[in-house]
Amino acid sequence: MALAARWFQDKFKGDVFYAVKANPSPWVIETLAANGVTSFDVASIPEIELVAQHAPGARMAFMHPVKSRAAISAAYFDHGVRTFSLDCHEELAKILDATGGAKDLNLMVRLAVAAEGAAYSLSGKFGVDSHSAPDLLLAARRATQELMGVAFHVGSQCMRPTAYQAAMTQASRALVRAGVFADVVDVGGGFPSVYPGMTPPALADYTDSIERGFAEMMVHETTELWCEPGRALVAEASSVLTKVELRKGDALYLNDGSYGSLFDAAHSKWPFPVKLLRREGDEAIEVEGALKPFRFYGPTCDSIDHMPGPFWLPEDIREGDYIEIGMLGAYGVAMTTRFNGFGDVETVQVDDAPMASMFGLAKRSIASPKAENQNVVKLSRARGKKRRRK
Ligand SMILES: Cc1ncc(COP(=O)(O)O)c(C=O)c1O
Repeated sequence: MALAARWFQDKFKGDVFYAVKANPSPWVIETLAANGVTSFDVASIPEIELVAQHAPGARMAFMHPVKSRAAISAAYFDHGVRTFSLDCHEELAKILDATGGAKDLNLMVRLAVAAEGAAYSLSGKFGVDSHSAPDLLLAARRATQELMGVAFHVGSQCMRPTAYQAAMTQASRALVRAGVFADVVDVGGGFPSVYPGMTPPALADYTDSIERGFAEMMVHETTELWCEPGRALVAEASSVLTKVELRKGDALYLNDGSYGSLFDAAHSKWPFPVKLLRREGDEAIEVEGALKPFRFYGPTCDSIDHMPGPFWLPEDIREGDYIEIGMLGAYGVAMTTRFNGFGDVETVQVDDAPMASMFGLAKRSIASPKAENQNVVKLSRARGKKRRRK
């Protein structure tokens, strides 16, 4: 994660706000802050309190386009937040009202943009359309003497770098039609990580696309460029160690699932990379052997608690074995619930490389599991964090 934080600071020609929702663990906030990421995209008062506690003095932007009046007031008056996003006139009026007509607001107008090439679209629910954007931009411009900006999100796990440039062209058109300059262009999150079957272009292609897009926009000399990466900063930073409670043929019943850290494995059917670990004394040995496809079931009574995979694991896997599921630093722990009484975890710091990496720590693709050589590892050598379901 330190490497990812430094990469974004070196290569992104602007300010990097970490999207806390991707992984709100205190150690994530602290590690990012220690590595120079001291701006945070927050979406709620609990996220604001978390950042205030673990990265005191950090800059925060309240980028949820729909906020309660109470949350706006608390953010402004109790936590010194000055940056708020909005995608309609009603939210603008609410922000002005809940801050007592504040004159020192930074107002970010969220535009709806195409999410082609993204695993998750983030424009269906939020964002003003091209037709209504100019009027809203003008209203936001008139409402503040501080910064007025445009923001968008090209969709999470965006596989197409040019999506950023295209969104910036769309933003530029809206600004021209409104006849206003933006003080901030916020390109949002969406920067991808590596998952089986999803090897994105290099991250430098994304920053190149953004630089091209920015150069073509009608902006003034002091216009700032911001981004809000979540996934790309933290995806590689942790694995989950889950225990096999029962094997029924090719179905493995685990103590983690769709109500725990495996939301994407269940709902998006992402076949995260896996390794089989078997306890031998104080060591966890990575088990070799001919691989076979398995599917997972989580611990709750719900049939939705199913991760179809396929997850390729040694065919002699059995009750009591542990499975390391990698690349779960983003939207893993963030999504866990206590449904059915499950959800206890133990977090340990380890120092081995992630299973794949956009930052040169490991291969930038996850090969067919059948072709991978497997080694004996000691858990104490792992890098990042691993979480073990109790
Ligand atoms: C406003 C906003 N910014 C940033 C992000 C982070 O996106 P990602 O994790 O795809 O980088 C999100 C994700 O939902 C978001 O809603």
